[in-house]
Amino acid sequence: MASSTYSSTSTCHRESRQPPTRLGVLGVGELAESLLVALARGCQREGRYRHDLEFHLSPRNDVRSHRLGWRFGAIRHVSNVAVCESSLCLLVGVRPQQLEALASELRESHALSKDHHLMVLAAGVPLQQLQRWFAPARVVRVMTGLAVCEGQSALTLYPEDPLTRDLLGPAVRQIIAFDDEAAFEASMLAVCVNAWQMAQQQALLDWFQTVPGITGPQARQLLMTQMRDALALMEAHPDTPPGELASRIGTPGTWTARGLEQLGGKEGAHRQWQQVLEGLRSELN
Ligand SMILES: NC(=O)c1ccc[n+]([C@@H]2O[C@H](COP(=O)([O-])OP(=O)(O)OC[C@H]3O[C@@H](n4cnc5c(N)ncnc54)[C@H](OP(=O)(O)O)[C@@H]3O)[C@@H](O)[C@H]2O)c1
Repeated sequence: MASSTYSSTSTCHRESRQPPTRLGVLGVGELAESLLVALARGCQREGRYRHDLEFHLSPRNDVRSHRLGWRFGAIRHVSNVAVCESSLCLLVGVRPQQLEALASELRESHALSKDHHLMVLAAGVPLQQLQRWFAPARVVRVMTGLAVCEGQSALTLYPEDPLTRDLLGPAVRQIIAFDDEAAFEASMLAVCVNAWQMAQQQALLDWFQTVPGITGPQARQLLMTQMRDALALMEAHPDTPPGELASRIGTPGTWTARGLEQLGGKEGAHRQWQQVLEGLRSELN
């Protein structure tokens, strides 16, 4: 296990190829690991060398940090304090209920300075609270989903922050910054939509396999094609509402139109999705 050898005065800005960008991670959980994988791959795609980016990991999570060490040369530290000494930029990946204990530990050991920049991956904990806990460090909130390691995701950010964009930008297709915290909080539900859509695909897959008896691989291919087509249409017509694109396909009298009518009614599936979003949003607030 490595311990910190870096001075806390070293910069975390990517000003040149020397010294490397150092990103500390407090809480190497499932989501943090996915984001680091995406970041390492994104940086490689941008032509940056492996030694241009260093991950400095907190203790615990042996399996994940060994994997990150093996894949990307990540350095494991003996304590959270050592991580803060190694890196001024820190990704905080602990669960919301674990944040306060982490903050107390760092406060008691005076591990954070005003030069530290924390990017916190946690739903439901307001920025003001985080700033109090992690003072005097600067704090921003970020969120993405587990699919981030596939390199196609968005990262949401509150508030806008150029350093976070610079550091985490290579990990994702786009960064969407919010200037309103309630909107940022609600945007996290978009991450959940991803899983709901896959569960919905499963329901459709089950039907195609069991009722008309299409084979699993064929049904899967058909459904994936449909999702790709929908995405392609939305990308090709960014100024057209998706509902209008759907209506253009489901012209009156078609089977598509009949399905749209049933799914879109007052008791239809679309309304149910909105109700789920509304229920979860009220819990987040
Ligand atoms: N996973 C998802 O699907 C997902 C998707 C979207 C958003 N999120 C959000 O992302 C955040 C992280 O979730 P996650 O699923 O990645 O959680 P996770 O896998 O449980 O990761 C958190 C990790 O932090 C470690 N940890 C806790 N306290 C620590 C401390 N004081 N010092 C060092 N390490 C510490 C935990 O170690 P121990 O295991 O030893 O406790 C755990 O491995 C949450 O806010 C969650 O809501 C998660």
